[in-house]
Amino acid sequence: MKTYKLAVAGGGSTYTPGIIRSLMDRLEDLPLSEIRFYDIDGERQSKVVVAAKAVIEEYTDKIKVIDTTDPQTAFEDVDFVFAQMRVGKYAMRELDEKIPLSHHVVGQETCGPGGLAYGLRTISPMIELIDYVEKYAKETAWIVNYSNPASIVAEGVRKLRPNSRVLNICDMPVATMRNIAAILGVEREELDVDYFGLNHFGWFTSIKVDGVERLPEIREHVYKHGLLTEDVSKIDYRHADSSWIKTFKNIKLIMDHFPEYLPNPYLQYYLFPDHIVETSNKEYTRANEVMDGREKTLFDTVDKYEETGILEDSFAVGVHGTFIVDVTVSLAQNLGKRYLVMVENNGTIPNLPNDAMIEVPALITSDGPKPEFVGDIPYFYKAMIDQQLASEKILVQAIVEGSYEKALQAFTLNKTLPSAKVAKAVLDDLIEANKEFWPTLTKEYKEGVLV
Ligand code: NAD
Ligand code: G6P
Ligand code: MN
Repeated sequence: MKTYKLAVAGGGSTYTPGIIRSLMDRLEDLPLSEIRFYDIDGERQSKVVVAAKAVIEEYTDKIKVIDTTDPQTAFEDVDFVFAQMRVGKYAMRELDEKIPLSHHVVGQETCGPGGLAYGLRTISPMIELIDYVEKYAKETAWIVNYSNPASIVAEGVRKLRPNSRVLNICDMPVATMRNIAAILGVEREELDVDYFGLNHFGWFTSIKVDGVERLPEIREHVYKHGLLTEDVSKIDYRHADSSWIKTFKNIKLIMDHFPEYLPNPYLQYYLFPDHIVETSNKEYTRANEVMDGREKTLFDTVDKYEETGILEDSFAVGVHGTFIVDVTVSLAQNLGKRYLVMVENNGTIPNLPNDAMIEVPALITSDGPKPEFVGDIPYFYKAMIDQQLASEKILVQAIVEGSYEKALQAFTLNKTLPSAKVAKAVLDDLIEANKEFWPTLTKEYKEGVLV
């Protein structure tokens, strides 16, 4: 039997135990001989590995586990790398959220200035990871990447390491499908959807079950309840937190204005930034909720396990864990299954640039994703996408060139920012906060003063 070696980069992630459970549930489809955990924060990772090992032991004693901060030990001869690095950890996520909010601008992990700030931190570590994997792993190895901001990461990888085997994925479309399925009373796997956009910036254009279009029914439901079942317990543990409930409820706000397609939940930050800011708590953001919730629960579970030997089942698999394993099984076994992932456009949507990293349905083969032809998209969506794409592409240029002006262009083009003046104020505060992480951004002009 063919077995695989898999490494997890960002092994200290709060998602690690859930992803490991998902891998263990699928050992028949993806037999593993080794799992290596790699992180730059060895202490954090070792705690998480206690939980991960305990999960593995529930299933098998045949898998060798390695916990390391050394890239060669981590990646030598591996077949797959799951990447889930959060550069700057929750401390920086909190600032990404709170600094923009202090300027009355959306404060979000991946959208708006917070997402751009996270992008400025992540490109260089991501390229470093690709280079390690290229140096040490099997030639056929794939990096399956969840590390955010995935859209900007995908553009950075396209530009800087165009031939690398990196598949960028996101669990939001699949989480949205989980809610759709629960609303329709079917299994998620029964849904046959069409979708186009950028990551965290797309729309479902068709939702079929057994060949029957169900989007009209979803529209009616969203009009009454947002994208939630009346019984919220049908939603994953994580998305049952109050901020996620609010996020899925707000789909009603979007569809009340634009009912044509079902939007990715993240579009609310671009279409209703004023409303989002008005309803945000500037002192207690999602980073605080996660630190007090998911992160604390994980470390409490590890402490309790070490004291008592009892592993509480506090990390459900959820769509996040199942999705990355589904995609990897399709890559490993050349199944050609259809999933929504990020790919380079190259004519899939002819009226968007060929070099845009888009999110669309693709067949996942051992050679990577093969996107299905989508066709031209209507102007409204195209205009929104073009603007967001420009913001993200210019941000990557700013990183490569170390250009302050390009960074400011990227911020100004982001629809969450109301003017160049506000964009500059937010950017300048973020530069100060990110000194340890960002490339130096050089100004090639004298600063003017607004009068
Ligand atoms: P976390 O802070 O709990 O874990 C991230 C880990 O990455 C930390 O242990 C940290 O030390 C490590 N890390 C940071 N820089 C690193 C580097 N250069 N090399 C190796 N490891 C490094 O974060 P989390 O909330 O569990 O999220 C993990 C990642 O997954 C984040 O990037 C998050 O945005 C992303 N995520 C993406 C999706 C998606 O849809 N694409 C879904 C969920 C989470
Ligand atoms: C969704 C998105 C991810 C994002 C995550 C944040 O799953 O697809 O890209 O990282 O939400 O979730 P959190 O629970 O950390 O706020
Ligand atoms: Mn995502």
